[in-house]
Amino acid sequence: MKIKAAIARFAGQPLCIEEIDIEAPREHEILVEVVATGVCHTDLVVRDGMLPTPLPVVLGHEGSGIVKAVGSHVTSIQPGDHVVMSYNTCGACPSCDDGDKSYCHEFFPRNFFAVREDGSSALSQNDKMIHGNFFGQSSFASFAICHESNAVKVDKNLPLELLGPLACGMQTGAGAVLNALKVEAGKSFIVFGTGSVGLSAVMAANSVGAKTIIAVDTQTSRLKIARELGATHTINPTEQDVVSQVMKITGCGVYYALDTTGIPAVIRSAVESLAPRGTCGILGASGPQAEIVLNETHFMSGGRRLKGIVEGEADPHSFIPKLIEMYLNDQFPFDKLVTFYSADNINQAINDTKTGVTIKPIVRWS
Ligand SMILES: NC(=O)c1ccc[n+]([C@@H]2O[C@H](COP(=O)([O-])OP(=O)(O)OC[C@H]3O[C@@H](n4cnc5c(N)ncnc54)[C@H](O)[C@@H]3O)[C@@H](O)[C@H]2O)c1
Ligand SMILES: [Zn+2]
Ligand SMILES: [Zn+2]
Repeated sequence: MKIKAAIARFAGQPLCIEEIDIEAPREHEILVEVVATGVCHTDLVVRDGMLPTPLPVVLGHEGSGIVKAVGSHVTSIQPGDHVVMSYNTCGACPSCDDGDKSYCHEFFPRNFFAVREDGSSALSQNDKMIHGNFFGQSSFASFAICHESNAVKVDKNLPLELLGPLACGMQTGAGAVLNALKVEAGKSFIVFGTGSVGLSAVMAANSVGAKTIIAVDTQTSRLKIARELGATHTINPTEQDVVSQVMKITGCGVYYALDTTGIPAVIRSAVESLAPRGTCGILGASGPQAEIVLNETHFMSGGRRLKGIVEGEADPHSFIPKLIEMYLNDQFPFDKLVTFYSADNINQAINDTKTGVTIKPIVRWS
């Protein structure tokens, strides 16, 4: 079948909207007519060649759409179902066995290698392979082949075009707070970076009743939105020293910190903002060269902790429905972060997120 897709052909270059071919779904796959796809910062990291995903490739990993066909062994999904497509896992490694899917031992190959396990792709153009299967979906396209296991069914009454970002960016920020750090009511929390991930963390910290919620960003406009979503304090590091401001606000430092910038010097500030026994989570996709330096005495002596976090430690099958419920109860108003673009304007959407004009672009395919 012919479909429309945005292809990353050359590192750092705009995506090319072209017609390509898509195969029918194999045994455990489903064919989804994509309604809309969120643009995540990780798509841009890969487009820019900072991770070893092969080109040409169709990126996109926050897709939502309607199932059109299912493979012969698919049992949990039927044509007509509305789905949100999240990350892919093996389902059989020690982490998957323990229910810790986001730490699947095969997370990297299954989400970034952009081929199936047998090295094939469902996508091609004039019989030449276009890499697909990015995050088990490659949803920067009008149709996607997804796996039964990483498609989450959602109610048909929900606004499907809005839901894609719950599959990665929003799940990552909210899950970091609710699942990984387990921020508690009455405690203090700081987030570095208020893009879609950081602002999702702010909304989640607000929903559990964190007493002090500090948002840090170099963009004043984003700090204003952070306040609207529940931040009690904001700090612009270009104007104020972050660590001394945190000590002024909290007295002894924060119990929970989250870095979403991936910048080693910012991660150091995040750790230095911790009170004794505090925990800092990091989740930025900085590329394989980034290294972190900490002061050993400060880190060790207060029993401070540093923790890597993938996909908010969320199982999408339970966490996406939870976020939808929070959204419907006005506890997670993630629609405030969203700007819609047509598929033909996908490069504009990418530029607008890079310049900070847009927080979470969603590209409509139909
Ligand atoms: N680990 C995971 O599972 C996972 C999942 C999704 C996204 N990510 C990564 O999370 C990161 C955040 O994603 P996003 O979509 O929110 O990105 P974003 O670019 O929208 O947000 C990053 C924010 O950091 C701010 N920033 C830059 N320099 C700063 C500084 N020195 N101090 C404070 N703030 C600063 C920027 O102004 C921006 O608002 C990206 O690296 C993305 O690739 C990781
Ligand atoms: Zn696994
Ligand atoms: Zn992502």
